[in-house]
Amino acid sequence: MRIDVLTLFPRMFESPLGCSILKRAQEASLVEIALTDIRDFAADSYRKVDDKPYGGGPGMVMMPGPVFDCFEHVQKLSPEKSRTILLTPQGKRFDQKKAAELSKEKRLILIAGKYEGFDERIRIGLDAEQISIGDYVLNGGELAAMVIIDAVVRLLPGALGDEDSSKDDSFSEGLLEYPQYTRPETFRDMKVPDILLSGDHAKIAEWRRQQSLERTKKWRPDLLKDDNG
Ligand code: ADE
Repeated sequence: MRIDVLTLFPRMFESPLGCSILKRAQEASLVEIALTDIRDFAADSYRKVDDKPYGGGPGMVMMPGPVFDCFEHVQKLSPEKSRTILLTPQGKRFDQKKAAELSKEKRLILIAGKYEGFDERIRIGLDAEQISIGDYVLNGGELAAMVIIDAVVRLLPGALGDEDSSKDDSFSEGLLEYPQYTRPETFRDMKVPDILLSGDHAKIAEWRRQQSLERTKKWRPDLLKDDNG
């Protein structure tokens, strides 16, 4: 998979992309992640990429010119057909189902904007899908792009050490994950449930399923409703 990110702050990505699973996945060529600075496509020597909104109002709006030029440049960097995503709080809410869907793509182009938003012609002209990572407003799309990259890359075959470990994740079956324990058997008077020490794999699987259901009912009943995916 190839992921291109268009951003005004490529340096924000250095640490998350340079650590842990995202680092290993790139080293193993499971994913190639390329960052392109939208400001390099500004038309003037001040590297201006935003301007005041027509009709008045607070803040600055991303101008279409630099974003279009940057996008057209990036598109040519690889022959693979891409799915284009605009990060914005107005988008459809990102979830595990969307992460799984995106992990099947050969190429993603993520566009992260700063300031008060994008000129509407960017969304229309690039025919971009809008995605939000939650109902709150971030200072820009960079952190949202990183969340999407993280959630998508861990689903690529071979990205996790243990092939099975993303299958049991919370949400992967529409339920929260069951409780996990590791050593020691007793910690500050809290004991690991006997069933997990029994060696009876069928019983353990049944217990875990039950726990997943109970936790989901108690903590995230919304996930059990039909309209949740
Ligand atoms: N940009 C600003 N806020 C955002 C959000 N919640 N999701 C995606 N992109 C954003």
